[in-house]
Amino acid sequence: MSSLIEVNAVAKTFSSQNGSVLALDTVSLDVAEGEFVVFLGPSGCGKSTLLRIIGGLTSSSSGYVRIGGRNIAGPDPAVGMVFQSYTSFPWLTVEDNVAFGLELSGSSKAGRQRRATEILGRVGLTKFARVYPSQLSGGMQQRVAIARTLALNPKVLLMDEPFGALDALTRVEMQSFLVDLWMQERKTVVFVTHDIDEAILLGDRIVVLSPHPGRISEIVDVPIPRPRTIEMTEEPEFVRMRHRLRTKIFQMASAAA
Ligand SMILES: Nc1ncnc2c1ncn2[C@@H]1O[C@H](COP(=O)(O)OP(=O)(O)OP(=O)(O)O)[C@@H](O)[C@H]1O
Ligand SMILES: [Mg+2]
Repeated sequence: MSSLIEVNAVAKTFSSQNGSVLALDTVSLDVAEGEFVVFLGPSGCGKSTLLRIIGGLTSSSSGYVRIGGRNIAGPDPAVGMVFQSYTSFPWLTVEDNVAFGLELSGSSKAGRQRRATEILGRVGLTKFARVYPSQLSGGMQQRVAIARTLALNPKVLLMDEPFGALDALTRVEMQSFLVDLWMQERKTVVFVTHDIDEAILLGDRIVVLSPHPGRISEIVDVPIPRPRTIEMTEEPEFVRMRHRLRTKIFQMASAAA
């Protein structure tokens, strides 16, 4: 597999009246086309900052990001983002939410409607096309957010704790929904979480970040075969991996405290 995303010596300093914070310190990483990479680390280690820099929403202080060989200097049509909070427009129906982003892409009204119908089918929301987001459960609202992003057909999906606000059961459902989608669509996914089980269930590789300043502490391959199921979280290989990652994260958090 060739490398689709190149993160090269990216550093980020935030400045404020209270001084400056080195949020990321020379982070370098390659993500292959079609890969599912997870950023894992304690709060404040720079996961969101790194993801936003990859997505062109935050500028780096030094270093660069390239996607498909092109330098990222702002939001890019090849890159879609999904956040923790539900980001749909409450005054638009589910269908119109999905079609909305396509208006900027210049497609016709009929074309947008067709695309919205197709995407809603793929995320299992066909029956809910005409309702408003507030009439849906949290998991379904997050599907709408994913559908809106997918409608634009990005090569890369960047997801910042997209299931963080969901209850445990819905979260497990959404994890398996996302993996199915990723397998069908062959997108490249970079997914942020601080949940160790979620990282192991989803990732081909887990990039462990350490705080103050944010650095890559290690990159771990997840050797557990797919499809992965919730039952596998009790199996020895999973348990070993969870234990190792948990120990690592606790060590980092107490060293930073
Ligand atoms: N806009 C900003 N201005 C100033 N400091 C910021 C800004 N955004 C992030 N930071 C700081 O940069 C560091 C990394 O923040 P970031 O949000 O990337 O962490 P995170 O790993 O995503 O944390 P969490 O798990 O809590 O979401 C933190 O110390 C944070 O306070
Ligand atoms: Mg964050």
